[in-house]
Amino acid sequence: MTQINCEPLKELIRTVPDFPKPGILFYDITTLLKDKTGFAQLIDAFAAYYIGKEIDLVLGIEARGFIFGPALAYRLNAGFVPVRKPGKLPAPVARVNYDLEYGSDALEIHLDAIQPGQRVIIVDDLLATGGTMQATVQLVRQLGGEIAGLGFAIELDFLKGASKLQEYDVFSLLHYD
Ligand code: PRP
Repeated sequence: MTQINCEPLKELIRTVPDFPKPGILFYDITTLLKDKTGFAQLIDAFAAYYIGKEIDLVLGIEARGFIFGPALAYRLNAGFVPVRKPGKLPAPVARVNYDLEYGSDALEIHLDAIQPGQRVIIVDDLLATGGTMQATVQLVRQLGGEIAGLGFAIELDFLKGASKLQEYDVFSLLHYD
């Protein structure tokens, strides 16, 4: 497998203190996305990891998984499926509720988005506590999809989100500790 060194991409990620609330350091990928070389390297690095793994579908989690999931799906000759916040999808859905640090949230997917046995990867910009991805994994399992991998642009190692996802192949381009 070709490994691409993504460390230089960190220079293109802007950190914003105290967003969205005090004490949180926000990793802002918009500064990476607008850089044509950086964006291409991001997609190339994901593609290098997943090409040859016979991926049928790339699932992107709202909202930032929608930004690079489709570009990756194109490179993998796969389809793209959005996993959305409640009430956004028009046709019948499967829904999962999950706990946040304070309160709860939910995600939905169209019931016909995945055929049983299809090989799926799920992508998002950030692995923090892992709750969002864990919930999305439940949706894929409900629909009978085979999870071939979980991909993140950024993993915050100190939050240990990967420990919730141990059954799966977790691939993160950039790590922060
Ligand atoms: C952020 C991020 C991931 C999630 C990671 O989304 O884009 O989806 O949090 O956190 P976790 O690993 O602790 O679950 P956010 O909830 O801010 O939603 P948004 O992308 O719609 O802004």
